[in-house]
Amino acid sequence: MNLETGRDKKESSYFQNWISVIGGICSVTLFSVILFLFILDFWSKQVNPYLGVITYLIAPVFLIASLLLIPLGAWRERSRRHKRGYVRKFPHIDFNNPTHQKLAFMTIGVSTLFLLFTMFGTYHAYEFTESVTFCGVLCHQVMKPEHTAYKHSPHARVSCVECHIGSGADWFVRSKLSGTYQIYSVLFGKYHRPIETPIKNLRPAQETCEQCHWPRQFFGAVEQDHQYFLSDEANTEWQTKMLMLVGGGMPPYGKKEGIHWHMNISNDVHYIATDEKRQVIPWVKVVGADGKEEVYVSEDSGYSQAKPPSGELRRMDCMDCHNRPSHIFKSPQEAVNEALAFGALDRTLPYLKREAVRVLTKEYASHEEARGKIQGELEKFYQTKYPEVWSSKKEALEQSIHTVIDIYQTNFFPEMKVSWNVYPDNIGHLISPGCFRCHDGKHKTAEGKMIRTDCKACHVIVAQGSPPLMETNVDGLEFKHPEEIGEAWKETACSDCHTGG
Ligand code: HEC
Ligand code: HEC
Ligand code: HEC
Ligand code: HEC
Ligand code: HEC
Ligand code: HEC
Repeated sequence: MNLETGRDKKESSYFQNWISVIGGICSVTLFSVILFLFILDFWSKQVNPYLGVITYLIAPVFLIASLLLIPLGAWRERSRRHKRGYVRKFPHIDFNNPTHQKLAFMTIGVSTLFLLFTMFGTYHAYEFTESVTFCGVLCHQVMKPEHTAYKHSPHARVSCVECHIGSGADWFVRSKLSGTYQIYSVLFGKYHRPIETPIKNLRPAQETCEQCHWPRQFFGAVEQDHQYFLSDEANTEWQTKMLMLVGGGMPPYGKKEGIHWHMNISNDVHYIATDEKRQVIPWVKVVGADGKEEVYVSEDSGYSQAKPPSGELRRMDCMDCHNRPSHIFKSPQEAVNEALAFGALDRTLPYLKREAVRVLTKEYASHEEARGKIQGELEKFYQTKYPEVWSSKKEALEQSIHTVIDIYQTNFFPEMKVSWNVYPDNIGHLISPGCFRCHDGKHKTAEGKMIRTDCKACHVIVAQGSPPLMETNVDGLEFKHPEEIGEAWKETACSDCHTGG
């Protein structure tokens, strides 16, 4: 024992203790593992979500923990020795001493390398948590419906964070905080099935959608070609070609009229909904470019201009119409029409429209069960009702059954209770109220001015009918309902009869 320094020769350093040694060994091992995984991730073409999680999230946490063990062990050792009465002075550092010089340079070199590596790693960790893989694939079960629909949408190349987070530090921090809660709720199964919408804290569209879509630049009309098939034996085709008067814009970039112009640029439209899903809107206020206010109230709602319902006064933005730009869960009617139109379903098979919609509208517990039952039901129908079709068109039938199963798997997610009818689409008015939430002929100002309801305010039908017998007129036709229902379509909202199933 050396009395002057209070040091035992054997116990030369506080770092010579089990905790620090284990920490040191673990740190070196983990560092090498991370380096190896990092190189692997760097070179692999495909993004592997689990590799990413281990490399950028889990392994670094363990590395930091084992690095912390080193000083922790030393500190514990020091207090132990203190209790035994040892005192240790700080070491003498002498830069004229070549050994000390070497040690100093080594320490600086290793620290710099480590810092650089940490910076690089942190950046990659950040990039990874912002990736579609992280958002869409990792929470496999929870995000499967949204991720699947997203992959089939016009925005399949736009990353989740571009709509859900956008740029800027404050939303970055908010998203990471709510993300932490989301990870907790996934781990403990605390999330809603289906995930509830509208998303309350969704970032305003001006800061997300409008970064890519410039509202002033919309102009003219967009042609929409709708192909329908009736539920009769022949799957009779019906077409409606219409020009959607999107309009919008601002001189000199575009004409100042139509759907977009009125809603977003010169006028502010505010509304109060009385339900969670924003489907019932009895009170609407328009503030014009000149600051003049007009309040429209739904007649039999019991509210008035001066007595609005309680609830959030929301300023209408893109999301109030385009609430499903990326997660489009198609209704059976829509999906089957589409597949018949492009030939994935064989329209020569009798009653295929009716039968496909029927099996898709049924409830199944899982994709697995749906596959078996859809196949079984359709085979049974043709076997018993159309034996001659069953034997002569077996291949076409098998192909069509395969398509129906495909439709189910891309639009229905029983595990998350997701399908078209839990997320109403606010564009249009066929199967959910959509535009008719306000344009329903009941919303009036105190003076009796009504929100427009004439069909030609929003679109012009230029051709309709059952091909080849089509009537056409570029100036617009009066709508003809594909099925004989008299004047019912004028008096009843389309969505009262049409449910999509
Ligand atoms: C083009 C923009 C856009 C992109 C890209 C996008 N989303 Fe969405 N997302 C939305 C909008 C808009 C809503 C509906 C908000 C509402 O109704 O309140 C939504 C809703 C959701 C919901 C709530 C449930 C639902 O279906 O409405 C989840 C979960 C979700 N998105 C996850 C994702 C994931 C995961 C990705 C990437 C794979 C993604 N989103 C990409 C715009 C987008
Ligand atoms: C990162 C850029 C980007 C963002 C952010 C973005 N979009 Fe898009 N959007 C696009 C592109 C690119 C297309 C064209 C896709 C195509 O035609 O294949 C598109 C297409 C569309 C279309 C036409 C779809 C169709 O059926 O042809 C609509 C509507 C739309 N976006 C609405 C939105 C809304 C609403 C948001 C905000 C929730 C949004 N977009 C956010 C890039 C973006
Ligand atoms: C009043 C409802 C409404 C609002 C609000 C609205 N849109 Fe639209 N938008 C429509 C309709 C209806 C169409 C016609 C095409 C369709 O049905 O998808 C359309 C079409 C589009 C298209 C496709 C245009 C084309 O040339 O193909 C884009 C992109 C788009 N909107 C983006 C936006 C963005 C971004 C916002 C917010 C600034 C917005 N919309 C606000 C109703 C709306
Ligand atoms: C929150 C209520 C609300 C919703 C939802 C709504 N609108 Fe409107 N819309 C209005 C009001 C208010 C006006 C102004 C009164 C008028 O011109 O009839 C208006 C006006 C219009 C106009 C006339 C613009 C012009 O050039 O004069 C068009 C076109 C239009 N809306 C299309 C749509 C479409 C398409 C949808 C559905 C995708 C829709 N609106 C959904 C409230 C709404
Ligand atoms: C407030 C605007 C507005 C009014 C008024 C309006 N529509 Fe529409 N309609 C739309 C929009 C927007 C769509 C596009 C839906 C889409 O993009 O899928 C649409 C779609 C349609 C479709 C195609 C349905 C589909 O999704 O396949 C038909 C048919 C139609 N409208 C008929 C009518 C008739 C008939 C009237 C008059 C009773 C009428 N509309 C009044 C906005 C309107
Ligand atoms: C009184 C009930 C009723 C009303 C109201 C109604 N429809 Fe229909 N609609 C039907 C029936 C029944 C069929 C035939 C269904 C079949 O053969 O599959 C049909 C078929 C259709 C079809 C073709 C089939 C398909 O695949 O969707 C379209 C398009 C259509 N209706 C549009 C509209 C529009 C747009 C409105 C509102 C302006 C409307 N309907 C209002 C009952 C109604």
